[in-house]
Amino acid sequence: MKKHKLVIDYSVYPSCKALDAEDLELMISAVEARKNAYAPYSNFQVGAAVLLENGEVVIGSNQENAAYPSGLCAERVAIYHASAKYPNVIIKAVAISATSKNYVVDSPAAPCGNCRQSMIEYEQKQKLPIKILLMGEKGEVLKIDSLLDILPLAFNSSFL
Ligand code: THU
Repeated sequence: MKKHKLVIDYSVYPSCKALDAEDLELMISAVEARKNAYAPYSNFQVGAAVLLENGEVVIGSNQENAAYPSGLCAERVAIYHASAKYPNVIIKAVAISATSKNYVVDSPAAPCGNCRQSMIEYEQKQKLPIKILLMGEKGEVLKIDSLLDILPLAFNSSFL
């Protein structure tokens, strides 16, 4: 038996103001996108903004449903929208921001497992990492250089 250890690298910024201009602009788009969330059941609004190599920013927000599992997270709304609109354009980064009507979200909201799997599909397809930026409504921002850092040992098409 061999033991393996996984170590992940990520950067922590004290606030979005410490990001470089491109990352800050993308995070501002995620904050804007959050405003169109439809989240009457959880009161938790998430916005996601996808930056493409052609300079386009495609946004998404969580869309809930009275039949709860039918709803979709912001990240998947955004990344599927991006791939549907620009199927062959490299995805450079995704910024995610969350807020709540019930409390102040002052730490970064982590993408759920389904969203990590959905997003890593495109990283594997394009063979180039996708940067992830995570923020609540204020406070620290996490920067992760690749989805593989937050979904190690991911399932992929090579198993099929
Ligand atoms: N949500 C997202 O949009 N992204 C995530 O990664 C985590 C959760 C949404 C789904 C649901 O509408 C609400 O947040 C509460 O789970």
